[in-house]
Amino acid sequence: MNPYRNDFPILSTKTNGNDLVYFDNAATTQKPVSVIEAINKYYQEQNANPYRGLYGLSVESTNAYEEARQTVADFIGAKSSKEIIFTGNATGSLNLIANTYGRMALKEGDQVVAAISEHHSNILPWQQVTKEKGAVLSYLYLNASGHITEEEIEQKITGNTKIVAVAQVSNVLGTINPVESIIKKAHEVGAVVVLDCAQSIPHYQVNVQELDADFIVFSGHKMLGPMGIGVLYGKENLLNEMPPFLTGGEMIEYVSEQEATFAPLPNKFEAGTPNVGGAVGLKAAINYIQKVGYDNIKKIEDELTDYALTKMKEVPHITIYGETDITKERCGVISFNVDDVHPHDTASILDADGIAIRAGHHCAQPLMHYMKVAATCRASFYFYNTKEEIDIFINSLKKVRRWLGYGD
Ligand code: ALA
Repeated sequence: MNPYRNDFPILSTKTNGNDLVYFDNAATTQKPVSVIEAINKYYQEQNANPYRGLYGLSVESTNAYEEARQTVADFIGAKSSKEIIFTGNATGSLNLIANTYGRMALKEGDQVVAAISEHHSNILPWQQVTKEKGAVLSYLYLNASGHITEEEIEQKITGNTKIVAVAQVSNVLGTINPVESIIKKAHEVGAVVVLDCAQSIPHYQVNVQELDADFIVFSGHKMLGPMGIGVLYGKENLLNEMPPFLTGGEMIEYVSEQEATFAPLPNKFEAGTPNVGGAVGLKAAINYIQKVGYDNIKKIEDELTDYALTKMKEVPHITIYGETDITKERCGVISFNVDDVHPHDTASILDADGIAIRAGHHCAQPLMHYMKVAATCRASFYFYNTKEEIDIFINSLKKVRRWLGYGD
């Protein structure tokens, strides 16, 4: 029995009359009791607007928020908590970087390089800013098994490249991208690197100083935390150079009728009342992940993924996209299709058996176009999943074509 399941109340609920089999962890993870209780406790005992009140409760709220920021800084090995900006999610963080650093650094003819497997949130902000500046957005393409090769990195990151924006793990294929090589090459040509860690940090230790990443972004809700809280890490010198993005309350130093000066980091980038409850929940989520331990998380997930890939390969009429060998830089996200069946139909048939997967383009239409498919089904695991759940999934998969009237 998986020892963590009892910490997640939703995992013992039923859906469509069946035990819930939750395989949509790349979309959002479920929440342990400790996270739910931390958020409850904040709202029951500490809630007040932080920074603004000259009374004890507001100071408590400020302290809770800043403790969460320090927890995040320690968790990713940042030099200072000033380098941690709380946003709404990874998308908010990426939009912030493109609209501030991107606008400031790019000029005509410059190049932004992204991977073709990026989520739309790491493509659209760069499309907009490159168009505005007359810069070029180009792509690192994948080899047949879904990997970015060293040759591709060598060729595509050039003297014109000013920004490289890439995910550490693909939300569609589960491929672990060679970010060490990408960062090395980007820095050789003087470019900065924006690393989207939304799909990696729930599963792998990310240390910003070891990686030497210039910016990293991630979402709380994909790593056991609540929705509505995200993180932008940036090197302090870069964040200091950047203009603010959103403007408003508590991000200023002084405002006159026509002019304003801005608050120092991190407040310069946090206009308006922040999501303190979300930050408190994220801190509890980090504590939970650290208690389970990344080595343990990886071991469980690799075993589950290997088991699922092996079993899926035995089912006739299944196409798995990308890398199918767990030892080759991939993690527990599996994109697949059942021959002749629309992915939405597959997802609905699985749903009738209580199995939650995602089907569609996964907010990665350029990748779908590159792979020449309209859509895929996606099963994604976390450390609280089990082999028994994979058996239920496999049995359900075997029924899909028969349900739709195919002979086998
Ligand atoms: N980005 C999330 C996913 O891949 C929503 O499903």
